[in-house]
Amino acid sequence: MTQTTDFLAPARLGRLALPHHLVMAPLTRNRAEADGTPSSLMVTHYAERASAGLIIGEASTPNAVGQTYPNITAIHTDRHADGWRRVTEAVRAAGGHMFLQLQHGGRVSHPETTGLTPVAPSPVPLPETIFTPGGHRPAVVPREMTADDIRTTVADFAAAARRAVAAGFEGVEVHSANGHLLHQFLAGNTNRRTDAYGGSPERRVRFTVEVTEAVADAIGADRVGVRISPGSTVNGIQEDDTDVLYPALVARLREMGLAYLHLVHADPDAAWYRRIRADWPGVLIGNPVLSELTTEAVTRGAREMLAAGADLVALGRPFLANPDLVTRLRLGAPLNPIRDRYLMYVGGADGYNDYPTLDTAGTAGISDCAGDPSSAPRAA
Ligand SMILES: Cc1cc2nc3c(=O)[nH]c(=O)nc-3n(C[C@H](O)[C@H](O)[C@H](O)COP(=O)(O)O)c2cc1C
Repeated sequence: MTQTTDFLAPARLGRLALPHHLVMAPLTRNRAEADGTPSSLMVTHYAERASAGLIIGEASTPNAVGQTYPNITAIHTDRHADGWRRVTEAVRAAGGHMFLQLQHGGRVSHPETTGLTPVAPSPVPLPETIFTPGGHRPAVVPREMTADDIRTTVADFAAAARRAVAAGFEGVEVHSANGHLLHQFLAGNTNRRTDAYGGSPERRVRFTVEVTEAVADAIGADRVGVRISPGSTVNGIQEDDTDVLYPALVARLREMGLAYLHLVHADPDAAWYRRIRADWPGVLIGNPVLSELTTEAVTRGAREMLAAGADLVALGRPFLANPDLVTRLRLGAPLNPIRDRYLMYVGGADGYNDYPTLDTAGTAGISDCAGDPSSAPRAA
């Protein structure tokens, strides 16, 4: 556990020496080519944020049926890996380190996007519309995964992790948060299975455990993190037993020697947070989810996260809008606001690679962001 609340002091993550305690959280920005290969825009975007120290690259699908939305990134073909290699090389040349988040959408997917019927633990549809190439569509009923689907999907995660490391990533983050496939197995309202993957908390955590074990076997446990979002209701999730579900998961993950555990909406006052911090022996990354994105609020939030026992602090929207976030925080300079929420998930360089640094624009002078975290993870 960290002893400092000075988030600008150097830090470590396993064998990685980090320049400070801040991490860029995964941010899906839908700027990939149609087949999921990272675009040139993405090379620029990530390289410009290399001072994050550690970047967790956006959710990338390990197979075709796991794709959530149009133009999200993928990591299941050589072409995807070649595209990502351009990103990791640019980030490394700029002095940064990068993990890649592996995400299967499960029921958060649509045949109009993938040409395939989505799969999920149980045939329970997302109670929302879903964005497709043709616009928003009602979600379809997903196909319940068979034992064979489960085995294949676990293997797809392991293969994606191998590709990610071959493409130059330092490691991968298994996405078990925000209502995607692994979270759908964890939560009672989306997992109605009666086999070994459903029922008690110990059974519902099994899929996340198997995916994580397979990924760790493929690339080494010290290159693997896991992201969870206890209590989150994003993407129609309802957990009735957060306070026992996550301790059951942590009890399994803690034996594996993983690089880190990453908590979304890390809330030091929540019972689950205190229990996880007490039970988790390794590096804990806390993503505080701030309601105000000013220099003062981000500084206070990062310090509070470290004071509550997190070892590193993940920030999403502050890095999205400020390529030079770390410099701004070091100087106490104002932060850029998020200009257009629509452009967070759609578009080209607009709203993506045109956020100014202090060098390119002087101080932007706007320190209040209207960003609303409640809608953000719809695409997460
Ligand atoms: C545009 C956008 C895209 C996101 N994409 C992802 C994602 O790919 N994977 C994920 O786990 N979370 C995703 N999130 C959630 C962020 O990682 C983070 O948890 C959230 O923005 C709250 O942190 P913040 O207050 O520092 O922005 C996304 C959020 C936003 C705003």
